[in-house]
Amino acid sequence: MIDWRELENTNVAQLAVLGDPIDHSLSPRMHQAALDHLGIPGKYYALKVLFNELEDCIAHLASIGFVGVNVTIPHKESAAQIGDGDKLVDLLSAANTLKFDGGKIAAINTDVAGFIKPIADLQPKNSLVLGAGGAAAAASYGLSRRGWSVDIWNRSPARAEDLALKFSARVVNEPNPAGCSLVVNATPLGLAGESPPLVWEELSPATTVYDMVYGRQPTPFLAKAVAGGCAVIDGREMLIEQGALSLEWWLDVSAPRDIMRGAIGL
Ligand SMILES: NC(=O)c1ccc[n+]([C@@H]2O[C@H](COP(=O)([O-])OP(=O)(O)OC[C@H]3O[C@@H](n4cnc5c(N)ncnc54)[C@H](OP(=O)(O)O)[C@@H]3O)[C@@H](O)[C@H]2O)c1
Repeated sequence: MIDWRELENTNVAQLAVLGDPIDHSLSPRMHQAALDHLGIPGKYYALKVLFNELEDCIAHLASIGFVGVNVTIPHKESAAQIGDGDKLVDLLSAANTLKFDGGKIAAINTDVAGFIKPIADLQPKNSLVLGAGGAAAAASYGLSRRGWSVDIWNRSPARAEDLALKFSARVVNEPNPAGCSLVVNATPLGLAGESPPLVWEELSPATTVYDMVYGRQPTPFLAKAVAGGCAVIDGREMLIEQGALSLEWWLDVSAPRDIMRGAIGL
């Protein structure tokens, strides 16, 4: 793993995803394939950046001519404070994409559009979102904007209450999918092979199950949903679209989504 402090100015377009943990990220494969396909000399890194290092890291990368960065867990709220965000960033208090431009740092959030793309054809009905962090905020906002009713379950109910108030959602005290046509995992559970809690016996095969967490294999959450006869959506689908929108904003290109899909095994 490259140490961000050791990176230097180069004559190619430099980009990265910053997070902790970051080893699992498929963003470098996906973005590098896009840069290579477009014939843009460039390098996309995955950089481990601890929670309290974000500001120093961003200052360093901007000073050595980086074009921009994606940020992931645990940096999205801090990124919204560091960057000059658009209305969506202000509303969600979360940014996943920063662009460095002559001393200025601009911030956008491509998670909402990335999350919605794979479910754009579903008829809005009842949904259940597990989690109440940045990913859950993007999901809850995107769903309620499209006319879904949103139930939020979170380990810490107070955080779910805050989110529910913001996006006209309802807090539920158990992760019960009864009556929901969509269930979304927006917790990090699955990164280490575990599964988020769900009242599985209430899951109908008519429910679509969406895991924002992704791995190289289906997560345990999606594997259980498939065994229950449900249609599933892999977190890599969201990764592609949020990444494509970031690339288009950074470099003013049309992102080669098919190439990006192939690079991460979709
Ligand atoms: N596929 C994609 O493109 C994509 C895009 C964005 C995010 N994601 C993924 O979504 C996940 C969540 O990201 P985030 O930015 O929302 O993180 P976050 O802001 O840290 O929020 C994490 C949420 O998960 C809950 N949680 C954490 N550990 C838990 C546990 N052991 N048991 C139950 N609940 C737990 C937290 O509950 P508390 O409030 O109780 O702490 C919180 O609600 C990450 O794995 C991220 O990689 C994927």
